[in-house]
Amino acid sequence: MKILSVFGTRPEAIKMAPLVKAIAAEPELTSVVCVTGQHRAMLDQVLSLFQIVPDYDLDVMRPDQGLNALSARILTALDPILSAVRPDCVLVHGDTNTALMAAIAAFHHRIPVGHVEAGLRTYDLARPWPEEMNRQLVDRLCSHLFAPTATAAAHLAGEHLPGRVLVTGNTVIDALFATLARIEGDAALQAELDAPFAMLDPARRLILVTGHRRENFGSGFIDICEALATLSARDDVEIVYPVHLNPNVRGPVHDRLFGRKNVHLVAPLDYLPFVALMRRSTLVLTDSGGVQEEAPSLGKPVLVMRDVTERPEAVAAGTVELVGTDQTRIVTAAARLLDDPVAYGRVARRSNPYGDGLACRRIVDALCGRVVEPFKL
Ligand code: UD1
Ligand code: UDP
Repeated sequence: MKILSVFGTRPEAIKMAPLVKAIAAEPELTSVVCVTGQHRAMLDQVLSLFQIVPDYDLDVMRPDQGLNALSARILTALDPILSAVRPDCVLVHGDTNTALMAAIAAFHHRIPVGHVEAGLRTYDLARPWPEEMNRQLVDRLCSHLFAPTATAAAHLAGEHLPGRVLVTGNTVIDALFATLARIEGDAALQAELDAPFAMLDPARRLILVTGHRRENFGSGFIDICEALATLSARDDVEIVYPVHLNPNVRGPVHDRLFGRKNVHLVAPLDYLPFVALMRRSTLVLTDSGGVQEEAPSLGKPVLVMRDVTERPEAVAAGTVELVGTDQTRIVTAAARLLDDPVAYGRVARRSNPYGDGLACRRIVDALCGRVVEPFKL
């Protein structure tokens, strides 16, 4: 059976990389990889870390292009590839425009589609925008729905979709465990990953920040930056913020935070140094989906700068708190965790609500038609 995996952004690449490896290692499957290049620089970092050489590269990224231009480019570019490869199944991931366009392109060729990370929902089309629409539409036209958790599977069951649902765990935990194993077993690598951050004072606590959601563009990002500016005035913290390459993020962040004491704005980090930095951090502030999933496995408290999340499991486990983009709420929640060791201790506990590291094995077995034991919490 020939499996064509299509992905194009950083988070998709991190979450598809271990699956691509597992498909390639399975004698019953043939792996073909097509990257759209929706994120040129951030995608290439991940491909090189996991040593994946794509069979096809659509190279669709244009600086700051609109969603319709991006979508049209992906849809058109995939057409000849689907005709040439004629895969038995196309795998897409998550909620990006790459995922939606690849699913539609395969559907038009009557090729079955498998959705990795199916069933995440807020049921609010504005948040996250446009991702909530993307993932709902992808799930509607899939044959295989690989849900990461029971909650996601319950959403799919409630929507009466034609595809078959399997709870697999999230492949991000497979990627994280593999990466942690590399770091933890190698003191020289740890030292190499720490070297660029020699400026960080070990006596101060590290706050790691990421942010890129389109619904936060404008006033949301301004508020987030003001909250970070307030926190940076403390003399017991250092803030490291790898800034997403989207110009709508870079502009406001650099305007408001560049040169501020205790704030280190850096380029997006490769996955290996980013995981190393998450391990070192006391607190994570983010609007990212993937980071919300990884942090509980590392026992790191996360303040999510969004009003709703499609990942309620870690909120229920207590590791994640939703704080929105209100300045006062962000600062108050961060200060409570930094100043109250009891409150911090309650939250900073390791848990794995998103997976057990065996998601890729389950997906491969399902593709081969084997009986699979679903992931359970
Ligand atoms: C996209 C996804 C979002 C995902 C996020 C992960 C969509 C609609 N959005 O949002 O679901 O959570 O990626 O980060 O699919 N850029 C570069 N180099 C890069 C990457 C981006 O220069 O390596 C710049 C380009 O100007 C690009 C812009 O960022 O046009 C926006 O990228 P795009 O993929 O459209 O949207 P994201 O906001 O990154
Ligand atoms: N990440 C990374 N380098 C960074 C910031 C994030 O490798 O500088 C990783 C992070 O560990 C997670 C993924 O990128 O696995 C999340 O990507 P992003 O926040 O862009 O997208 P989302 O998860 O919100 O779709």
